[in-house]
Amino acid sequence: MSDRWNAENLKHRHRGKSSERHLNKNAILAGLMIGPGQVVLDAGCGNGYMAKEFARLTGKTGKVYALDTDSTSIEVLKSETEGTTIEPFVGDITEETRLSASSIDLIYVATVIHGFSRTEMEGFLKEADRLMKPNGRLAIVEIKKEDTPFGPPLHIRFSPEELKQLISFTPTQLIDVGQFFYMQTFKKE
Ligand SMILES: C[S@@+](CC[C@H](N)C(=O)[O-])C[C@H]1O[C@@H](n2cnc3c(N)ncnc32)[C@H](O)[C@@H]1O
Repeated sequence: MSDRWNAENLKHRHRGKSSERHLNKNAILAGLMIGPGQVVLDAGCGNGYMAKEFARLTGKTGKVYALDTDSTSIEVLKSETEGTTIEPFVGDITEETRLSASSIDLIYVATVIHGFSRTEMEGFLKEADRLMKPNGRLAIVEIKKEDTPFGPPLHIRFSPEELKQLISFTPTQLIDVGQFFYMQTFKKE
């Protein structure tokens, strides 16, 4: 992983974009096992299409925070979700957010982290640790580290094994969530 932390990453932030057409939503939802009353954070939510799915499952007693650095996406999502349990807000998941410590059951981060610098990755892991409840979960969706018809250069992608080396939470599940994507989940013990 020696050459992945360079300026190349920063070209791959894709502000406000969506990976919706490439991802198998049903496989992701089946893997996440979200239940009523849970509090979910969709970090780097883009257009928020998964936040809407999460809100369906967490129900009236649950809460879904949808966070993105892209203010345009957040403004659109705010207007679409007014009066629901979804709370979109502009923020940066690599820094301390305005959410309370130990308040989140599940952090979902899809096709976001390959664009992080080393410092941002450290900031992200610190904030994830602060936000997750004991037994909270982190789900990371990333493009596979193999030849694909699109996507960032191979050297900045993460394989599930590399994620496991980088992240100190307990790995729980690895599933395919599209032809070119996987989801690796972790648990905070
Ligand atoms: C490729 S899009 C994926 C969007 C969505 N997760 C999906 O699966 O469709 C990456 C998103 O992450 C957002 N993003 C990038 N860095 C971020 C950060 N540090 N904190 C919050 N959001 C970030 C971008 O603005 C963009 O909306």
